[in-house]
Amino acid sequence: PVLVVDFGAQYAQLIARRVREARIYSEVIAHDAPLAEFEAKNPAAIVLSGGPASVYADDAPSLDPAVLDLGVPVFGICYGFQSMAKALGGTVANTGGREFGRTPFIPAGGVLHAGLDGEQPVWMSHNDAVQVAPEGFTVTGSTPGAPVASFENTQRRMAGVQYHPEVLHTPHGQQVLTRFLYEIAGLQPTWTAANIAESLIEDVRAQVGENGLAICGLSGGVDSAVAAALVQRAIGDRLTCVFVDHGLLRAGEREQVQQDFVAATGARLVTVDAESVFLGELAGVSDPEAKRKIIGREFIRSFEGAVTEVLGDRAAVGDKVEFLVQGTLYPDVVESGGGSGTANIKSHHNVGGLPDDLEFSLVEPLRLLFKDEVRAVGRELGLPEEIVARQPFPGPGLAIRIVGEVTGERLAILRRADAIAREELTRAGLDGQIWQCPVVLLADVRSVGVQGDGRTYGHPIVLRPVSSEDAMTADWTRVPYEVLETISTRITNEVPDVNRVVLDVTSKPPGTIEWE
Ligand code: XMP
Repeated sequence: PVLVVDFGAQYAQLIARRVREARIYSEVIAHDAPLAEFEAKNPAAIVLSGGPASVYADDAPSLDPAVLDLGVPVFGICYGFQSMAKALGGTVANTGGREFGRTPFIPAGGVLHAGLDGEQPVWMSHNDAVQVAPEGFTVTGSTPGAPVASFENTQRRMAGVQYHPEVLHTPHGQQVLTRFLYEIAGLQPTWTAANIAESLIEDVRAQVGENGLAICGLSGGVDSAVAAALVQRAIGDRLTCVFVDHGLLRAGEREQVQQDFVAATGARLVTVDAESVFLGELAGVSDPEAKRKIIGREFIRSFEGAVTEVLGDRAAVGDKVEFLVQGTLYPDVVESGGGSGTANIKSHHNVGGLPDDLEFSLVEPLRLLFKDEVRAVGRELGLPEEIVARQPFPGPGLAIRIVGEVTGERLAILRRADAIAREELTRAGLDGQIWQCPVVLLADVRSVGVQGDGRTYGHPIVLRPVSSEDAMTADWTRVPYEVLETISTRITNEVPDVNRVVLDVTSKPPGTIEWE
């Protein structure tokens, strides 16, 4: 792989994604990982990411200099550029030339910036700057605050830039990163959906063996669907998929799993009809966290019930289900500290929250993939666009989009309003721009309206369209007024008991994406 060295800022994962967008496999590695770990990975190239610190600070995260002597191509970015300069004998200093944000960069020849003429906007974030490039390195660009803003040594296959090529604010950034990978490091773009799918299927076969049996819970979401589809390709009918219908799903989602997913994959599917159990347990509960707890508990109960049934079936023929398939993704793995020694930022529920008495071995075919790659693999496996391009939807479903108690009647109202909003946003071509659009029923609020000949006293529906890259932060999406108008008119006309549609114009932070 290409190893992206994490110096403790937020950039490493984004850089790893950008490397993969150039169709080259990459992994994140901690800056203080032992040299042996770097060597064991047999890196095709190393990218040093940006970091929060000054290279001269006492607690500056540093890299074992021997990593630069492995004979592997190296690309330094921002802090990584400076630490590389320093380690190779150049000088870095704080001369008051700090630059933050959009900055003009003047390229001056070289391989990295070939084809870029004149001033280029780049994204900067630095206090220190490289003053003198290491011996043997050619300076290939400058900015007002950084006389040495990029350098390269094609013989040693090393290069670096002070700016951030990985962010969209640097328009030519991806081109420069790609030129490093192809032209300086000499790598071939082989990380394609077809190759990824093929190698993952091989891995699953190797893990599960000739006779192993596996089960997989389907949520209706992209990750579990793609994970299941991969495992199905690998071991066929030795996989059983379990779908718990808790009655909190959106219109059409059950059909998507039962018909579209099964049609596309041929997977064995067991559906658990648990709506009445869930609604019974949720009766009288309006506290968001209490709802989540109940749903989590009942979900595990229903799932285990189904598994026992599957086990019973199989036990009759003397087999044992050993493997549980999970749709864990690479960001979850990195953030849970399971990457390569990266700090334990948070224990993700997919990784850290499994019951202790779990008697399965986990099969996590997506654990090295980013979301975009999961979608590409899903398409490669023939999953329909409605599943592959689906927006994120929370596990507790519509229950946390009803502010107040969850009842069958309220779910029916929300389901209709949600279906209308989704339909119109899709029709307006906004799906690419919107990360997700929760539609929320304020069940405990009533307002006066006038519809037809009479006064009404109904509930408001909130539209919450947001744009985001990773759900950690989000901005409210500027949906055109005409589209909002159509949605509002349709919802108030077509959904009984709703007489008002309001738009949430709060970013995250301070608001979260969901209302509960
Ligand atoms: P918030 O509301 O925290 O949401 O800004 C961030 C992302 O997480 C989703 N979300 C959940 N997903 N179980 C889930 O599986 C939950 O309890 C849950 N709560 C929020 C939300 O839809 C958004 O994508």
